[in-house]
Amino acid sequence: MAKVKIATTKDISANKVLKTSANGQSVIVAKVGDKHCAIANKCPHLGLPLAKGKFENGVITCPFHGSKFEICTGKNVEWVDSVVGIPLPDFAKKIVSMGKSSTDVASFTVTQEGEDLFIDA
Ligand code: FES
Repeated sequence: MAKVKIATTKDISANKVLKTSANGQSVIVAKVGDKHCAIANKCPHLGLPLAKGKFENGVITCPFHGSKFEICTGKNVEWVDSVVGIPLPDFAKKIVSMGKSSTDVASFTVTQEGEDLFIDA
Protein backbone atom coordinates (compact mmCIF):
# COMPACT_ATOMS: atom_id res chain seq x y z
CA MET A 1 0.00 0.00 0.00
CA ALA A 2 1.13 3.51 -0.74
CA LYS A 3 0.09 6.88 0.58
CA VAL A 4 -2.03 8.55 -2.11
CA LYS A 5 -3.39 12.09 -2.24
CA ILE A 6 -7.16 11.93 -2.76
CA ALA A 7 -8.27 15.55 -2.42
CA THR A 8 -7.67 18.86 -0.71
CA THR A 9 -9.79 20.22 2.10
CA LYS A 10 -11.07 22.89 -0.31
CA ASP A 11 -12.57 20.15 -2.53
CA ILE A 12 -14.87 18.94 0.25
CA SER A 13 -18.31 20.60 0.58
CA ALA A 14 -20.41 20.35 3.73
CA ASN A 15 -22.90 17.46 3.72
CA LYS A 16 -21.68 16.12 0.36
CA VAL A 17 -19.41 13.29 -0.67
CA LEU A 18 -16.64 13.81 -3.18
CA LYS A 19 -15.87 11.03 -5.65
CA THR A 20 -12.16 10.62 -6.22
CA SER A 21 -9.71 7.80 -6.82
CA ALA A 22 -6.56 6.25 -5.45
CA ASN A 23 -4.41 3.77 -7.38
CA GLY A 24 -7.25 3.14 -9.83
CA GLN A 25 -9.75 2.48 -7.06
CA SER A 26 -12.83 4.70 -6.83
CA VAL A 27 -13.19 6.30 -3.39
CA ILE A 28 -15.65 8.70 -1.77
CA VAL A 29 -14.56 11.19 0.86
CA ALA A 30 -16.53 13.55 3.10
CA LYS A 31 -16.13 15.65 6.21
CA VAL A 32 -18.03 14.49 9.28
CA GLY A 33 -17.68 16.90 12.17
CA ASP A 34 -14.00 17.88 12.16
CA LYS A 35 -12.87 14.62 10.62
CA HIS A 36 -12.34 13.62 6.98
CA CYS A 37 -13.44 10.06 6.19
CA ALA A 38 -13.23 7.83 3.11
CA ILE A 39 -14.69 4.55 1.93
CA ALA A 40 -14.61 2.58 -1.30
CA ASN A 41 -17.13 3.79 -3.88
CA LYS A 42 -18.31 0.22 -4.29
CA CYS A 43 -21.35 -1.16 -2.51
CA PRO A 44 -20.58 -4.64 -1.13
CA HIS A 45 -24.04 -5.84 -2.21
CA LEU A 46 -23.57 -5.86 -5.99
CA GLY A 47 -20.45 -3.74 -6.41
CA LEU A 48 -22.35 -0.72 -7.70
CA PRO A 49 -21.19 2.87 -6.97
CA LEU A 50 -22.33 4.63 -3.80
CA ALA A 51 -21.30 8.19 -4.73
CA LYS A 52 -24.73 9.36 -5.93
CA GLY A 53 -26.51 8.11 -2.83
CA LYS A 54 -28.11 10.32 -0.21
CA PHE A 55 -25.56 11.44 2.40
CA GLU A 56 -26.84 12.46 5.79
CA ASN A 57 -25.34 12.48 9.30
CA GLY A 58 -22.22 10.66 8.16
CA VAL A 59 -24.19 7.85 6.52
CA ILE A 60 -24.44 7.19 2.77
CA THR A 61 -27.37 5.29 1.30
CA CYS A 62 -26.71 3.14 -1.74
CA PRO A 63 -28.89 4.59 -4.53
CA PHE A 64 -29.71 1.12 -5.89
CA HIS A 65 -31.11 -0.97 -3.00
CA GLY A 66 -30.92 1.27 0.04
CA SER A 67 -28.06 -0.27 2.03
CA LYS A 68 -26.56 2.30 4.39
CA PHE A 69 -22.93 2.70 5.44
CA GLU A 70 -21.13 4.96 7.92
CA ILE A 71 -18.54 6.85 5.92
CA CYS A 72 -16.12 7.07 8.88
CA THR A 73 -16.07 3.33 9.62
CA GLY A 74 -17.52 1.56 6.56
CA LYS A 75 -19.97 -0.13 8.93
CA ASN A 76 -23.20 -1.38 7.38
CA VAL A 77 -26.16 0.05 9.31
CA GLU A 78 -28.99 -1.07 6.99
CA TRP A 79 -28.92 -3.83 4.39
CA VAL A 80 -30.98 -3.89 1.16
CA ASP A 81 -34.35 -2.32 1.94
CA SER A 82 -35.52 -0.75 -1.31
CA VAL A 83 -35.16 -0.63 -5.08
CA VAL A 84 -34.22 2.80 -6.45
CA GLY A 85 -35.81 4.41 -3.41
CA ILE A 86 -39.02 2.34 -3.33
CA PRO A 87 -39.28 0.49 0.03
CA LEU A 88 -39.49 -3.31 -0.11
CA PRO A 89 -41.53 -5.68 2.08
CA ASP A 90 -39.42 -8.14 4.12
CA PHE A 91 -39.93 -11.12 1.78
CA ALA A 92 -38.73 -9.03 -1.20
CA LYS A 93 -35.66 -7.79 0.71
CA LYS A 94 -34.45 -11.39 0.89
CA ILE A 95 -34.95 -11.84 -2.86
CA VAL A 96 -33.24 -8.57 -3.80
CA SER A 97 -30.31 -9.24 -1.45
CA MET A 98 -29.68 -12.39 -3.56
CA GLY A 99 -28.45 -14.43 -0.62
CA LYS A 100 -25.82 -11.89 0.36
CA SER A 101 -25.75 -10.93 3.99
CA SER A 102 -24.92 -7.62 5.59
CA THR A 103 -21.36 -6.59 4.79
CA ASP A 104 -19.30 -3.52 5.67
CA VAL A 105 -17.70 -1.46 2.90
CA ALA A 106 -13.93 -1.00 2.77
CA SER A 107 -12.86 2.10 4.68
CA PHE A 108 -9.64 4.11 4.71
CA THR A 109 -7.91 6.22 7.32
CA VAL A 110 -7.59 9.77 5.99
CA THR A 111 -4.51 11.75 6.98
CA GLN A 112 -4.06 15.45 6.41
CA GLU A 113 -0.94 17.46 5.62
CA GLY A 114 -1.73 21.14 5.24
CA GLU A 115 -4.73 21.20 2.92
CA ASP A 116 -3.94 17.84 1.31
CA LEU A 117 -5.83 14.65 2.21
CA PHE A 118 -4.27 11.19 1.83
CA ILE A 119 -5.23 7.56 2.26
CA ASP A 120 -3.19 4.36 2.13
CA ALA A 121 -4.37 2.47 -0.94
S1 FES B 1 -25.90 -2.38 -4.95
FE1 FES B 1 -25.93 -1.26 -3.08
S2 FES B 1 -27.57 -2.10 -1.97
FE2 FES B 1 -27.56 -3.20 -3.86
